[in-house]
Amino acid sequence: MFTDGARESGRKLRLSGLAGSVKIFPSRHRKMNFWNKFYEQPLDKIPWQNTQADWFSDLVDRGEVKGTSALDLVCGTGKKSIYLAKHGFGKVIGVDIADRAVEIAKQNALKEGVSGNCVFIAEDALEWAFSNKEEFDLILDWAYLHCLPPEKRNLYASTINNASKKGSLYLIRAFSSRNNEEYFEETVDDAANKIYFLDEKKISGLLPNFEIVKKNESAPRTKPDFYFTELLMIKN
Ligand SMILES: C[S@@+](CC[C@H](N)C(=O)[O-])C[C@H]1O[C@@H](n2cnc3c(N)ncnc32)[C@H](O)[C@@H]1O
Repeated sequence: MFTDGARESGRKLRLSGLAGSVKIFPSRHRKMNFWNKFYEQPLDKIPWQNTQADWFSDLVDRGEVKGTSALDLVCGTGKKSIYLAKHGFGKVIGVDIADRAVEIAKQNALKEGVSGNCVFIAEDALEWAFSNKEEFDLILDWAYLHCLPPEKRNLYASTINNASKKGSLYLIRAFSSRNNEEYFEETVDDAANKIYFLDEKKISGLLPNFEIVKKNESAPRTKPDFYFTELLMIKN
C-alpha cells in the first residue's frame, strides 16, 4: 500500500492578471471541464469505454508486458491499471485530468480487490509525471500523446525518459490517419478539443533511445476514418 501525497505537492496556485483578477491554472481547468463532460454521461456512451483493447490485454496475458511498477498516464476509469494490478504489477499509478473518471477508477479498484496496489490521481498527466521523480517498469500511454499539441511533445519525451530506466517498457496507442491530416476535433456537448494524428515514425522519432519490440494497428469503432497505431517499446 502506498500513498498519493504527490497529488497535493502537484497542486500549485498560479496567480495572474491585474490585482483582483485571480486565475487558478486556467488551462488545466478548461481541460478538466472538457474531459469531465464525457464522464457525466452513462459510461456506455463514452466512445473509448467500449473500444477494444485486445492488443493490450494479449500482451499482458502472454507476459510480454510485465513488471512490478507501472504508470498509467491517462487511466480513465482505471480499467487498464486494474488489469495490470491483477497481472503481477504490485504498484500502479493512474493519472487522469478528469476527476470524475478518477473517482470511478478508485471505486473500480476497490470492487476488484486491488485498491492496495493502485493509486489514482486527478492531475494533468504531464505536469504530474514531470514533477514526480520515480522510474517505472512500464509506462502506459493508451491515448494521451495524441491529446497534446505538437509543441508539448519534447516535454512529453523528456518526461517519459525521466520516468523510465534501461529495460523499462513503454506501450502506446495513438490515433493515426492515412490522409495527411494534422488533427481532428473531438466534441462533447458544445465543446471541442484537437486530437493530433501520430504514426510510428513520429512516435519513435520522439523517443530515440527506445526500440520497438512489437507493433499493431487497430480500428477505432467510433471513428472508422482513422486507425490506431499501437507500439510496444523498450528503453535501451
Ligand atoms: C481516450 S481516453 C483513454 C482513457 C484510458 N486510457 C482508457 O483506455 O480507457 C483519454 C483520457 O485522457 C484523459 N486526459 C486528456 N488530457 C489529459 C491530460 N492533460 N492529463 C491527464 N489526463 C488527460 C481524459 O480525461 C481521458 O480519460
